[in-house]
Amino acid sequence: MPVTWLHISDLHVRADDSYDRAVVFRALLKSIKRFREHDEHSADFVLATGDIGFSGKAVEYMVVGDFFDQLLEAAALSRRNLYVVPGNHDVDRTVGKQLLRQLSTRDEADEYFHPNAPWLHLRHKMAPFLEWHNEYFRGIRTMPTNSTCGPVELLVKGHTRIGLLPINTALFCQDDHDHERLCIGRRCIDSAVAQLNSLAADLKIAMMHHPVEELSTIERQQVRAALVDHLDVVLTGHLHEAGFVSVGMWSHRNLRCAAGATYQTRDYPNSAYYATFDTDHITVFPIRYEDQPRETWTVDPSIFSHASRLEFTFSVPCPPGQVGFRILGPDKVVAPRDEPRTRLKVQKKITAAIHAANANAENKRLRRKEEAILEIAAAAEEDAIAKERPTRRRKTKGTKPAKK
Ligand SMILES: [Fe+2]
Repeated sequence: MPVTWLHISDLHVRADDSYDRAVVFRALLKSIKRFREHDEHSADFVLATGDIGFSGKAVEYMVVGDFFDQLLEAAALSRRNLYVVPGNHDVDRTVGKQLLRQLSTRDEADEYFHPNAPWLHLRHKMAPFLEWHNEYFRGIRTMPTNSTCGPVELLVKGHTRIGLLPINTALFCQDDHDHERLCIGRRCIDSAVAQLNSLAADLKIAMMHHPVEELSTIERQQVRAALVDHLDVVLTGHLHEAGFVSVGMWSHRNLRCAAGATYQTRDYPNSAYYATFDTDHITVFPIRYEDQPRETWTVDPSIFSHASRLEFTFSVPCPPGQVGFRILGPDKVVAPRDEPRTRLKVQKKITAAIHAANANAENKRLRRKEEAILEIAAAAEEDAIAKERPTRRRKTKGTKPAKK
């Protein structure tokens, strides 16, 4: 049975009654309702990947809570169907000044992320977010205070099982220089992945605010490998850029979905997307805010501009023992949605296209190498000639008889 999620991110809600923000949010609520009522896109759950507040203050989350209530009403869902992780705007930086800025070594990280450690960054710097989260989802789920990962959950619709792994990447966020200073703790993701794998889900989704590239070098490669090896889809925000790319380190197996910012300003390209998972493929329908002539959210034609319906289907290769999605190449070969029997044929085409692209790249590399050698040889020849010319002139000049 198809399962659809709506991915929003980076709402940046301040404790004010901004008309600018209200216009964009009002249009989003109206459009979500319209998509649902016209049976075009109807979300089974909503995923929000951080920066839901602006400065991590409690008063902001009261506004956020109201907005989420309205959003769920428009989508005809309940709080149980909403999942939220924090971002760098969900930390209180004034409190952060009293805390450790970053972890420097692997051993330091192992010690910091021990389940019995005090977790001061979470309990103090992120206290307003934590309190809001646990109150808003009271009786549904609680954010763990001894791990950055979880709670791991299983969403079931019909026979389809979706495993969800929320990841808090914001513990060490403090200012505009967070890049490569963030840590989630290898021991946290290790145990969460083990829990996720025990669910026997058809699709495993991780949701985190920061792309993995933002993490500290003391753990970045291992975290990326864990995501590549155990997750099918990784949802991110933070960059305010909508995009759907492969994150497979070697095999291009995962799909990374970046939602863009749901609200920055009315003039900013505010965006989000729907994604539908069905058996062996996932279809992405990107949407964006349009300010004129009428405020609305509609299909974003800039993401999959080559596709006839402006949405794109990523196939699941699914040979035994292999997990994840393969991002299709520039050949634009797409597995038809309603014809699973043609998948093998399509897969062969994709493999052939990849081999051709690799061969082409190798030829280009050799050509570039040959051209580079010729360029170096030509430059050396020119240089030699240039050095020789003044010598000749000097010799000629030297032999010329002096004027009397
Ligand atoms: Fe952010």
